[in-house]
Amino acid sequence: MAKERSFSMLKPGVLQRRIVGEVLSRIEKKGFRIIGLKMIRISRTLAETHYREHRDKPFFGELVDYICSAPLIALVLEADGAVAMLRHLCGTTKADLAEPGTIRGDFAMHTNFNIIHASDSPESAEREIGLFFRPEEIFDWEDCNHGWI
Ligand SMILES: Nc1ncnc2c1ncn2[C@@H]1O[C@H](COP(=O)(O)OP(=O)(O)OP(=O)(O)O)[C@@H](O)[C@H]1O
Ligand SMILES: [Mg+2]
Repeated sequence: MAKERSFSMLKPGVLQRRIVGEVLSRIEKKGFRIIGLKMIRISRTLAETHYREHRDKPFFGELVDYICSAPLIALVLEADGAVAMLRHLCGTTKADLAEPGTIRGDFAMHTNFNIIHASDSPESAEREIGLFFRPEEIFDWEDCNHGWI
């Protein structure tokens, strides 16, 4: 499987519920390499651009309100098959269907506030990384564990 990058946001509720460490820990323990990480309070324009594919959906306004309501944690993650791997770790979109053991399954009660965003394709990942990160904010650090992960 090819090395790939994915983009993730820990949505505002993660910070408000004091579970940033817990969610990040799951991502790290799975084996993702964190190559970009920042706390950011995003503008409406950035939120609308990020979620532009949903602009005609009835939940779009609420989704943008929520994403802008408090700071979030933006992440660039790298792994073999990172996009699919991260989606799997997050669990399915709808809170009532997300499997226990997944991040959404364990922490989300409402689909509108489903805790975490994960890119849905490598192309989306690259687009989203470009929206949130400048190239110099991404770090290509070396593993010293000789490929144990
Ligand atoms: N039916 C819905 N009702 C309310 N909110 C929804 C609904 N469907 C999606 N959303 C919200 O919009 C976000 C984007 O929806 P999308 O279909 O892209 O799901 P996703 O890819 O699993 O989530 P995300 O893009 O945030 O990773 C969801 O994470 C959720 O917060
Ligand atoms: Mg999506």
